[in-house]
Amino acid sequence: MKIKQRPRWFISENDATPETVYHNRRKLLKQLGIAAATVPVASMAQGSLFNLFGDDEPAVDRRAALSPTKQQGDLPLTPEDKILSYNNFYEFGTDKTDPAERAQSFQYNPWQLTVGGLVNTPVTLDYDDLLKRFPLEERIYRLRCVEAWSMNIPWIGFPLASLIKMANPTSKARYVAFETLYDPEQMPGQVSRRLGGGIDYPYVEGLRLDEAMNPLTLLSVGLYGKTLAPQNGAPIRLVVPWKYGFKSIKSIVKITLTDTMPPTTWNLLAPQEYGFYANVNPYVDHPRWSQASERFIGEGSLFSSRRQLTLMFNGYEPEVAAMYKEMDLKRWY
Ligand code: MTE
Repeated sequence: MKIKQRPRWFISENDATPETVYHNRRKLLKQLGIAAATVPVASMAQGSLFNLFGDDEPAVDRRAALSPTKQQGDLPLTPEDKILSYNNFYEFGTDKTDPAERAQSFQYNPWQLTVGGLVNTPVTLDYDDLLKRFPLEERIYRLRCVEAWSMNIPWIGFPLASLIKMANPTSKARYVAFETLYDPEQMPGQVSRRLGGGIDYPYVEGLRLDEAMNPLTLLSVGLYGKTLAPQNGAPIRLVVPWKYGFKSIKSIVKITLTDTMPPTTWNLLAPQEYGFYANVNPYVDHPRWSQASERFIGEGSLFSSRRQLTLMFNGYEPEVAAMYKEMDLKRWY
């Protein structure tokens, strides 16, 4: 008889809820209860942000509720207001607070995502397809940024593998290339290299095909029970939990199957600092700082956050190490 083994990060609704998650959920529910009588919780969070920047425009929360099928993972959560206000999205500016401030009027519906290149069945998905074509799952993953901070987020999405299978890659396909929307009228950072961190836009990323097909690799359309906010990469972004956060490309419009390793934004900008693989690795330092530990962004102020040791492959070693067993990870950083 074949015994179906559930992945380590899977927790069904019936399994015990860890205390930390329970408390976070209770808190969120409490906030939502209050919000029901006044304004949505995200408007409150974003509204206070706008006030911080002295912007009188009230923030309009365009996020819709999602109903993912599973609650997965058992990490203590980073509060929702942190993931909504401390972001990297250079198309909207290089300060952590720029995306939340400048991306609010970003238009992401209608949207088109195409899957092409070395495939037998090219695919185009529109905005509704992104939210409804695949069953949505919730997974709590750690996002470990190369800048040595991390957040644990309840992502909502579907495995990238489902979409790639739909496109039916040809036998020549070896890599998957991703591209963010290029629209300088909407994304101020794309107009000026100075504002946009010296990046040659559109932002591009890539994975090896086996990495892309790994069940952990998620295309995310939401977090914390709702569709993505613009600053988090609405309407669809990648989440590859065992790699540094810069691989998690936002607001994707194009996915291309290729036979050669695709160029990636940070590798083009500073190849000695950012490799193609970008696997989280406490033993391979960034040339300018250590990767041995990280600041976990949880409760409290951003800068009082506690430090924790960085785990090999960001804690996902059992699921992903086999893909790299023949590789020198110091060379292929
Ligand atoms: N995608 C695009 N298009 N542009 C960006 O600047 N920044 C990356 C990644 N995806 C980035 C991007 C980096 S460096 C990180 S750490 C994560 O997004 C941050 O995601 P978050 O703001 O949702 O936490």
